[in-house]
Amino acid sequence: MTKLKITNVGRDYGNTPAVEDFSLDIADGEFISLLGPSGCGKTTMLRMIAGFIEPSRGTIALNGQMISSPSAVLPPEHRSMSMIFQSYAIWPNMTVYQNVAFGLELRKVPASEISRRVGEMLEVVQLTVQASRYPAELSGGQQQRVALARAVIVQPEVLLLDEPLSNLDANLREEMRLEIRRMHNEFKITTVYVTHDQAEAMVASDRIVVMSKGRVEQIASPREIYRSPATRFVASFIGRTNFLTGRRNGAAFEFSAFKIPSDRLPSASERDQVVVSLRPHSVGVVPRRASPPDGRLISIDGSVVDRAYFGDHWDYSIKLADDSMLIASVEPYLEYQIGDNVSLDIDLEHLSVLTDATT
Ligand SMILES: Nc1ncnc2c1ncn2[C@@H]1O[C@H](COP(=O)(O)OP(=O)(O)OP(=O)(O)O)[C@@H](O)[C@H]1O
Ligand SMILES: [Mg+2]
Repeated sequence: MTKLKITNVGRDYGNTPAVEDFSLDIADGEFISLLGPSGCGKTTMLRMIAGFIEPSRGTIALNGQMISSPSAVLPPEHRSMSMIFQSYAIWPNMTVYQNVAFGLELRKVPASEISRRVGEMLEVVQLTVQASRYPAELSGGQQQRVALARAVIVQPEVLLLDEPLSNLDANLREEMRLEIRRMHNEFKITTVYVTHDQAEAMVASDRIVVMSKGRVEQIASPREIYRSPATRFVASFIGRTNFLTGRRNGAAFEFSAFKIPSDRLPSASERDQVVVSLRPHSVGVVPRRASPPDGRLISIDGSVVDRAYFGDHWDYSIKLADDSMLIASVEPYLEYQIGDNVSLDIDLEHLSVLTDATT
């Protein structure tokens, strides 16, 4: 079932669009991340979902009912949504318990039910022991869990989170992104999560919306986004990659040091030129072979010109026959020296044809 239907939404500030042509159907219980660099329009989109700002174009519907259009916007307080802002304000003069209970009291829930539900919620976020403490007596991560508990306990139709972990240090962030996913698994609240941290989006999301300059670049599962980036922007924003350009010559695309029959790149069939993304750890490095192996592997000869050891992997910079360079990331026990002649094995499955790039 579609919980939230966003159709061709755009928002201008002056003459400049901050969000352009954003369309997305969010299923009931789905966890969606809006991911992209600073200024790409994530907060603007989230605030339109929350009802704090109206769209310049397009519509937003919740459970089939129109809640936002350029002519009419249902105010935030009537949307049954909870939003956590980047600076997670929890009330400093209330204890953990009071903070979490507040939303239920506002909704006139009977006292006995409040104490039961708050008790259960504090168990979930592991703050039972801290129930009577004040925010100043909590760590950053604990305060963040109070904010989450407070937002989730009112069982909102949709939970909106705007960079909720950005105030935390790296270790806590890592812990909390798992915590957020755990809360989601427990309560199944439809969630839209804004972040510019790809790891956060990867860990928590069912689907990720990658945005750049107000536009949607790709909407897909974390695996698909990583394995099959649609555009040059997505390929380089999510992890590292090599870009390889191939030109059509008869029935094949010729890359700098290898050829691929054009029928093996069906999504490029109409083009004269393609750019593919190849992740560094999708490149196998073996000692130089006399002849290429059978099967679907592409084998390219090259030599090691630089290397860096990271403990859990090696990065090798490999120079190919035409002097172009490729980065390969391999297991830490596969050690090569600078100057070694090697062969690179590439699986066609790991080449991702980009839709937007022609050079
Ligand atoms: N009230 C406003 N008036 C004018 N321009 C605005 C306003 N709010 C946002 N913008 C502009 O709209 C664009 C998108 O801003 P937005 O806050 O949505 O970005 P963001 O993706 O959330 O970035 P960040 O990761 O830095 O929070 C930016 O260029 C910003 O300067
Ligand atoms: Mg923002």
